[in-house]
Amino acid sequence: MSALKNDLLLRTLRGEEVERSPVWMMRQAGRYLPEYMVLRRKYGFFERCQTPALACEITVQPVDIVGVDAAILFSDILVVPQAMGLEVQMVESKGPLLPDPIKIDSDLNRIRVPDVNETLGYVFDAIKLIKQELNGRVPLIGFAGAPWTILCYMVQGKGSKTFDEAKAVCYTQPQLAHQLLQMITDTTIAYLKGQVAAGADTIQVFDSWGGLLSPHDFENISLKYIRQIVAALKDDVPVIVFAKGAWHSLKEMADTGAAGLGIDWCIKPELARQFAGDNVTLQGNFDPAKLLSPIPVIQQEVKTMIKAFGTKRYVANLGHGILPNVPVDHARAFVDTVKEFS
Ligand code: CP3
Repeated sequence: MSALKNDLLLRTLRGEEVERSPVWMMRQAGRYLPEYMVLRRKYGFFERCQTPALACEITVQPVDIVGVDAAILFSDILVVPQAMGLEVQMVESKGPLLPDPIKIDSDLNRIRVPDVNETLGYVFDAIKLIKQELNGRVPLIGFAGAPWTILCYMVQGKGSKTFDEAKAVCYTQPQLAHQLLQMITDTTIAYLKGQVAAGADTIQVFDSWGGLLSPHDFENISLKYIRQIVAALKDDVPVIVFAKGAWHSLKEMADTGAAGLGIDWCIKPELARQFAGDNVTLQGNFDPAKLLSPIPVIQQEVKTMIKAFGTKRYVANLGHGILPNVPVDHARAFVDTVKEFS
């Protein structure tokens, strides 16, 4: 495996001086690229995830087409509950569906902490193939969902604006909830270690629903488990934690030893830095819907964003995943503007 030709992201995460800020976009693999849509029509969602050649092709597309400084593995956070023994379907235009969610103690008998090589070996195979295909052009980001976000789907059984049923289990059956969170955590640590062994250069933990919890519950239900994951991985690779909406706990997240923190667009960059402190790299926080603006507006707003974060310990990114209806030249304008800024 050759050394990286572009290691801006890794150097920025380690806090080293860089020529310019690196840029990538959350959910850049899939969704908005016509080249992805062709594969989407031909193969089922989990078939795309489970076939290393397809996962590889989709992962590398945004590197070739929009010129991002990092690739992110094409997969999904819900392969973890699948590996634990729950059925997960991806329903066209509806999203995830878990027909037999976890509701009571005895449901835990239906799931287990699996051998990740047996159940998720296809992800490790995809990573090895992607590393070959990238041939050192840019680093590869591996990922997993945070235990709380995974619990949301395992208990609620589908997407939700409030995840009230998932919260209800945490509040009324705390012992069940914490047992489940620990099983997810143990699976996730083994899974991410496997991703790193296969070649992932850095890891992002997605806590998409962290912001649904109060600061106190976020600590008890989410951060406690994220802390275990960061501790288990951080000596091997830099770890990025993205907990959407959990701006109140940026300091506590920095204290986990994470190298980077994802920031959404609902907090001022200056305040995010003040909360997080100087010993962590910040990543974000362009409103994904703003990529629908005319290109000159995107260019202007990207410059404003970089000036607000400063070029030190900063990775340009969106504040959440790219939307499916973003024109490719708008995504490219976002990336190009970051690359030209100095
Ligand atoms: O970042 C990337 O591009 C890599 C691949 C990736 C996917 N999902 C592929 C995907 C990543 C990192 C994810 C993470 C993910 N999956 C999260 C956390 C990040 C976030 O955006 O909050 C969550 C909550 C999920 C669960 C999930 N998967 C949902 C809610 C949906 C349906 C709605 C949607 O996002 O499109 C998915 C399906 C999914 N995962 C798609 C893709 C490209 C779209 C389905 C398709 O193209 O057939």
